[in-house]
Amino acid sequence: MSPSDRIATARAELLKRYETLSNKSDILKSRELKELFSVIPTLEPHERAGFGQSVNALSNELKAMVDSESVAVKELRSIDVTAPFDSNAPKPELLPSEQGSIHPLMAEISRLSEIFSRMGFVIEQSREIDDQYHMFEALNFPKGHPARDDYDTFMTVETDSDGSPLIAPAHTSTMQNRILKKYKSNLESGDAIAAVVPDRVFRNEDVDARHEHTFYQVEGVYVAENVHAGMLIATLQKFLEEYYERTLNVRVNPFYFPFTEPSFEFALSCPFCGGEDPACKVCSGEGWIELLGCGMIHPNVLKAAGIDPNVHTGFAFGCGVDRLVMMKYAIEDVRHFHSAKLDFLKQF
Ligand code: PHE
Repeated sequence: MSPSDRIATARAELLKRYETLSNKSDILKSRELKELFSVIPTLEPHERAGFGQSVNALSNELKAMVDSESVAVKELRSIDVTAPFDSNAPKPELLPSEQGSIHPLMAEISRLSEIFSRMGFVIEQSREIDDQYHMFEALNFPKGHPARDDYDTFMTVETDSDGSPLIAPAHTSTMQNRILKKYKSNLESGDAIAAVVPDRVFRNEDVDARHEHTFYQVEGVYVAENVHAGMLIATLQKFLEEYYERTLNVRVNPFYFPFTEPSFEFALSCPFCGGEDPACKVCSGEGWIELLGCGMIHPNVLKAAGIDPNVHTGFAFGCGVDRLVMMKYAIEDVRHFHSAKLDFLKQF
């Protein structure tokens, strides 16, 4: 093919392609154009100058087309300032509904609920607005008690019957009093109270990779005769071993909560590396992970629900669900859960 035929063929090909491109500037990066440029140095000197000029002319023609296109697009696109989204933003990638999936946190909440129900616990729900009685008084935090400061959350302008603002519950323990009252009759018939509450909680947090203002906890409440701390530890260990599908070591340290006595901070051996990997991302090589708060239900909490602490005793625990799930899948940032990022969600 003569050099001028070669340019004519390439030009026709490039113009045809140009029409089909959604991003017009891609034409300037096309293989054909690059090839034409790469032919120039291989030609005999007498052909080189003329061929080189024709290639440049074609390249300039294409550039001008691309430029005029982008001016035209800019001129055409009007902005609707009333639109509830940025109308200049590229169209978001959306999944068709048949490809939708259950959110990883919801899937894991069903899994853990299923494990607890096999262990004999009923599943209850919390609420998104509660009163100060259930958040504090019923849990043995007297008015003005400094431990209230550990649970800084959001309040409404609306008030409860005492004139105190309603609150977004900072933990699922707000449900303890209701559960104890609801299932008190179990004790009268010689059965135990055994319930878990996996639900949303809210805190006034500075959000970072490990802290969210909205997250999930699972609360556990168990009351019967002769309940002791060994039963609490065994229940949690069994649950965690079922959840992580491996044997785990657990450790308890003394802690303080107004609503349990004694109170513990409960740690488990890293479910990801089993404490074997000094470079583990999940436990930072520590081998242990402080997971949850728990303890024996304080006599005042039982009394607030009309249960005699001299006859019945119980344990309670509150575990962060997001952390449980993050450890299971080595998710490094809690904010992914509420980010709605498809790249993240599609992995589940
Ligand atoms: N509610 C406590 C918290 O969120 C955890 C907890 C629950 C501790 C039940 C003891 C018993 O910090």
